Amino acid sequence: MELFFNAQLVLALRKHHAANALIVALNSSSLFTLALRGGLLIKLACAEFCQKTDLLDRALKAAEGGLERLIFFHANNRHLEFHPVKKWWQGTHKYRELKAFWQVTNPQPPNPAPSSIGDTQKSLVVLGIETSCDETGVALVRLEPRPLKVGQDQTPATGTILSQALHSQIALHAAYGGVVPELASRDHVIRLAPFAKQALKDASLTWSDVDLIAYTEGPGLAGALLVGASLAQGLGYACGKPVIGVHHLEGHLLSPLLEPDAKTLVFPFLALLVSGGHTQLMQVDGLGRYTMLGETIDDAAGEAFDKSAQLLGLGYPGGPEIGKWAVTGNASRFDLPRPLAKRPTLDFSFAGLKTAVLTHVQKLKAMHALDDQARADMAASVQAAIVDVLMNKTERAITETRIQQLVVAGGVGANLMLRARLKQLQQDGRCRVIFPAPSLCTDNGVMIAWAGGLRALSREQGAHAGPFTVRPRWPLDQV
Ligand code: KG4
Ligand code: ZN
Repeated sequence: MELFFNAQLVLALRKHHAANALIVALNSSSLFTLALRGGLLIKLACAEFCQKTDLLDRALKAAEGGLERLIFFHANNRHLEFHPVKKWWQGTHKYRELKAFWQVTNPQPPNPAPSSIGDTQKSLVVLGIETSCDETGVALVRLEPRPLKVGQDQTPATGTILSQALHSQIALHAAYGGVVPELASRDHVIRLAPFAKQALKDASLTWSDVDLIAYTEGPGLAGALLVGASLAQGLGYACGKPVIGVHHLEGHLLSPLLEPDAKTLVFPFLALLVSGGHTQLMQVDGLGRYTMLGETIDDAAGEAFDKSAQLLGLGYPGGPEIGKWAVTGNASRFDLPRPLAKRPTLDFSFAGLKTAVLTHVQKLKAMHALDDQARADMAASVQAAIVDVLMNKTERAITETRIQQLVVAGGVGANLMLRARLKQLQQDGRCRVIFPAPSLCTDNGVMIAWAGGLRALSREQGAHAGPFTVRPRWPLDQV
């Protein structure tokens, strides 16, 4: 085993061709990064390595002697944390067989910018990586650029899903009634790199066939986002591919456009984005041209489903559970509020609904009457209230903007009652409605590959090589 303290991770990766080199990077903000030649780059949030050297100990133990080399690098010799690391390493007797190399220079971004993607007339294979919350998603999507007719403003490509790997952490978080961020990050770390390999294998492609790597840059859980961002950047470094950061909600928003019947969709259209963290009505005038028409002033629609389910003692996530229980329930048994329904605004509010559910549940419990029928009736009442609120504002947006095309995206878009009500709107001739397939409503790698590819084709600059970050909070109208 050899040990290097090298400023240029990239050079280190390229120079040391050992398949099992573990690279430990310490950058100016004390971020601690582990990279494996061949792709894995994990940026561990500010680990204060000097105080927490056991992280490295554990990484070495986890490698179980399978490492061929260990490479340390640091960007700048003036940074203080470099010296204590060196001191710690020299003082430790555990890894005596390792040889140390000390090289310090300033790193250069090695991988090309997304705008360097050559001929935008050729098809583009994009690897998409999603880790913003509790789904690990990796997918390969091929984008076929299409000539745009003058005066017709459409997406610059059509897309085909080549492969996808998706894992939901629902079971992992179920016992806690919500997502535990640290558990989410750790699970992403374990699954992500194998998923990337699997996606390639399933599509019968190799790394050289991939033109672009897209990852969710935000919004989401900081630690979870860092895992995806790190893998994307690591793969970019290792394979010399451009890397682009994607806004998670833009991924949701553009995913309906993968549907075959969306090929004829022309901008502008309305988008109803309903996920676990967001409830928004947007006007979409083009790629990256999003105007917020209304959004929730408190809880998101998905959150209202999740919290109501939790109060009723149903499973997590609450949306699908409420949907299931509602089938046998009586939606008019409980009178639940429809906040802001009569106000001339396109904003939503769900906090009052949650309080009303809590009050009813407390009363039922006090009377020992929270039986399965009461649960089903409450589930049906909650679903009806949430869907009513969403429909009310959507219809208002159609009337106000006179835009008669709507795409629906985000996890709550999988709700059957909402889908039925929106289909009715279409049948009534009010509006053309496009949904993604229910499996593409919740988080997945496909939407990130697709959105990243569309952005690259329209020559939009996203995040790329060099120091990178994630954006846990990132309003969509600021992309
Ligand atoms: O878009 P998503 O997968 O993740 C976020 O970006 O938040 O949305 C997750 C949310 C959860 O709140 C979940 O309860 C809700 O979508 N959801 C549903 C359904 N499936 C997922 N809500 C209602 N009905 C469903 N079938
Ligand atoms: Zn989402």
